[in-house]
Amino acid sequence: MYANSSIPESAQQGVHEHLAQRVAKHASSEFRKPYLDYNKAAFEASLAGWDGKAPLILDAGCGVGHSTIQLAREFPDHWVIGVDQSEDRLSRKKPYPDALMPKNMVFVRADLVDYWRLMADAGIKLARHYILYPNPWPKVGHLARRWHAHPVFPFVPRLGGRLECRSNWNIYVEEFAVALGLLIGREVKWESFEAPSPLTPFERKYRDSGQTLYRCVVELDSQPNLEHNPS
Ligand SMILES: C[S@@+](CC[C@H](N)C(=O)[O-])C[C@H]1O[C@@H](n2cnc3c(N)ncnc32)[C@H](O)[C@@H]1O
Repeated sequence: MYANSSIPESAQQGVHEHLAQRVAKHASSEFRKPYLDYNKAAFEASLAGWDGKAPLILDAGCGVGHSTIQLAREFPDHWVIGVDQSEDRLSRKKPYPDALMPKNMVFVRADLVDYWRLMADAGIKLARHYILYPNPWPKVGHLARRWHAHPVFPFVPRLGGRLECRSNWNIYVEEFAVALGLLIGREVKWESFEAPSPLTPFERKYRDSGQTLYRCVVELDSQPNLEHNPS
């Protein structure tokens, strides 16, 4: 039955007690896992159609890609990349006729653990970066599977731009904000929000089930903590 999805159930009632320690460890150690060839090829493929000048948008974990298409329509002068590890989701039929599909976007199948690092290592900067409804991994023992507690997370803010994470689990978004704040050295806010026009199928399902949606949005390129030096 549609619109009966539930909020993740967890014994965890607040930010995980080991989160800060985990983030600090990842920030201070090098993540050296070798890149897999298929991720390198996907990275190249995702930039093959880019003119090298258009601002970039990354839809990380785009699922069936509806958000990627909507973003490409909303930002026609940007190059929009939808990345997901699931070929099955990426290849599902889109709710647009082929003739109306935006030309300023591409879908690639890749593991974000490699893809994010390849982007950062190439010195690529994003204009906008979306992590929409990532798998919540709500069990206490699954902290390390949440993106913000994964060793790859320090690479995410290095990509710059406007970063947005959305979830129907408030604790995920609060942890995301805490972890990001630790990495960038300033407070990161999070909030509940309304989604009158849902960007993704998960967002639509949660909204139609009457759930509260949460998001964390941060402008990574602004540096409000820099002291003004009048000289
Ligand atoms: C809950 S779904 C959300 C999909 C979409 N953003 C939405 O809101 O409809 C999470 C997505 O993240 C993708 N994902 C999980 N781990 C990934 C990884 N390591 N690399 C790439 N995609 C991943 C999954 O395949 C899945 O499509």
